[in-house]
Amino acid sequence: MGHHQNTKLVLVVGGAGFIGSHTVDLLLSEGYRVRVLDNFSTGKRHNLPETHERLEILAGDMSDQAILRRICVDITHVLHLAAQVSVVDSLENPVFSCQQNILSFVAVLDAARMHNARFVYASSAAIYGNQNTLPLQEEDPALPISPYGLEKYSNELYADLYGRIYGLSHLGLRYFNVYGPRQDPKSPYSGVISRFVDQVAAGKPLTVRGDGKQFRDFIHVRDVARANVAALRGNTLGVLNVARGEATSIIELAKLIEKISGSVSGVHWVPDIPGDIKRSLADSTRMRQFLCSPQWPLAEGIRELLGQ
Ligand SMILES: NC(=O)c1ccc[n+]([C@@H]2O[C@H](COP(=O)([O-])OP(=O)(O)OC[C@H]3O[C@@H](n4cnc5c(N)ncnc54)[C@H](O)[C@@H]3O)[C@@H](O)[C@H]2O)c1
Repeated sequence: MGHHQNTKLVLVVGGAGFIGSHTVDLLLSEGYRVRVLDNFSTGKRHNLPETHERLEILAGDMSDQAILRRICVDITHVLHLAAQVSVVDSLENPVFSCQQNILSFVAVLDAARMHNARFVYASSAAIYGNQNTLPLQEEDPALPISPYGLEKYSNELYADLYGRIYGLSHLGLRYFNVYGPRQDPKSPYSGVISRFVDQVAAGKPLTVRGDGKQFRDFIHVRDVARANVAALRGNTLGVLNVARGEATSIIELAKLIEKISGSVSGVHWVPDIPGDIKRSLADSTRMRQFLCSPQWPLAEGIRELLGQ
């Protein structure tokens, strides 16, 4: 039986990763055709369906312009998520980080421009740095405190320029702290929720950095996937925060995870890491207005991760 065949073909760069794979799932379920480009540096093949009639997966590096040229045939939309994603690594190896997050970003941006495709890309809450006034609003100044944050800000400036000189349709999504299934807990720099869940499963204490009073604005990856699809479908220009607009301190988070899991291993205090932001809380009014409203309460998302 022929189901509705969508004529839209979305190129998802970094589609085998954490946010990418959930977005691909949603795009496929909504009838889109999807082409993934990924070099599988942090992404995994098994994050994506083994086979699907509307999914093509290409292994390759986004810095390769010949590959980009080949895979952009017929695309109508680009979702660019591939990046050097670690703040700490951007401090330790700023040249590699710049190559991935600025040079390769421009390669993908330019490919979108050549095909007149709608361009949606991952920015980050990291562009804000440590600000005095919260919640963070889109028009607040960018004050990055890491190469990673600066690179994401430069992406926004590039996209804005391409909008003005080429009429490119673009939207940058400033993701706050994304969590959920498929987040890799093995990296020491990955999300705190995946680390805590992993520690609970191993019967280990939860490692809390600094005084634990730093807070974050957590959003479930399936809510982020919904925001991404809404961003591709729409024509909003510029940048939007993607967050729930609720602050949770790390110590509150540890207590919540202990309560849900029944863990009695306690907390292990460790020093702060450089480049870590103290207070992160978004104004999510515009996301709710222009994209969608997040649906996953934090406790429910954590319960699912803990298998409770
Ligand atoms: N997870 C978060 O909380 C968060 C917060 C803010 C911003 N972001 C941004 O969102 C995007 C997606 O992050 P994620 O958490 O899904 O990370 P991820 O590491 O799971 O996904 C990145 C994907 O890009 C691929 N990739 C990396 N370099 C590549 C290259 N040179 N060529 C082709 N593919 C390449 C990786 O293999 C991976 O599949 C990134 O741009 C990240 O900076 C994430």
